Amino acid sequence: MVRLTGFNNINTAVFISGTGSNLKSLIKFFKRRKYPIYTKLIISDNSKAKGLKYGNIFKIKKKVFNFKKKNLAEKKLLVQLKKNNIQLICLAGFMKILSKNFVKKFKGKILNIHPSLLPKYKGLNTHQRVLQNNEKYSGCTVHLVNSKLDSGKIILQSKIKIYKKDTPKSLAARILKEEHKLYPKAVLKLFNL
Ligand code: GRF
Repeated sequence: MVRLTGFNNINTAVFISGTGSNLKSLIKFFKRRKYPIYTKLIISDNSKAKGLKYGNIFKIKKKVFNFKKKNLAEKKLLVQLKKNNIQLICLAGFMKILSKNFVKKFKGKILNIHPSLLPKYKGLNTHQRVLQNNEKYSGCTVHLVNSKLDSGKIILQSKIKIYKKDTPKSLAARILKEEHKLYPKAVLKLFNL
């Protein structure tokens, strides 16, 4: 876990590629100002990501980087993270894999949320695979990011029951609701708050 020294603020950058519902829930949770955590920056690899609208709604700075040239994108990204004094990165539906080098620079300070009970069902099409295997339970996991996909230390998980009538869509929707509660809690846990 990350130890906080004194009364430092924790500035967070949330990385998205799409809808940004987890971004919204993180922003709203930390806007209550009960904790010294601030959503300071929204990062995306996709200029059309719907979630970028939360930058306007909540007046948070947003930046888009073209990951076709990943090295360059990460270089520019690091400059922005430094400039904004970012201590924590929350990946929330960010569809690009960060390089080993980048992850090393933020070691222990990058979280990701994944819609399965990791270590089971890493990668894409999670819900479809879970249903095909007749699993009784699924859920979501917040974990630290290391250089392997969906593999870092697990911080928190939430488990839900699967119903017979579930489809990948219904399961995804139910799990997403859990994600919105789990992610802020995992951030607090990481900082022992
Ligand atoms: C979530 O299901 C998350 O677990 C996965 O991508 C989805 C992002 O949803 N990594 P949103 O953009 O936060 O709505």
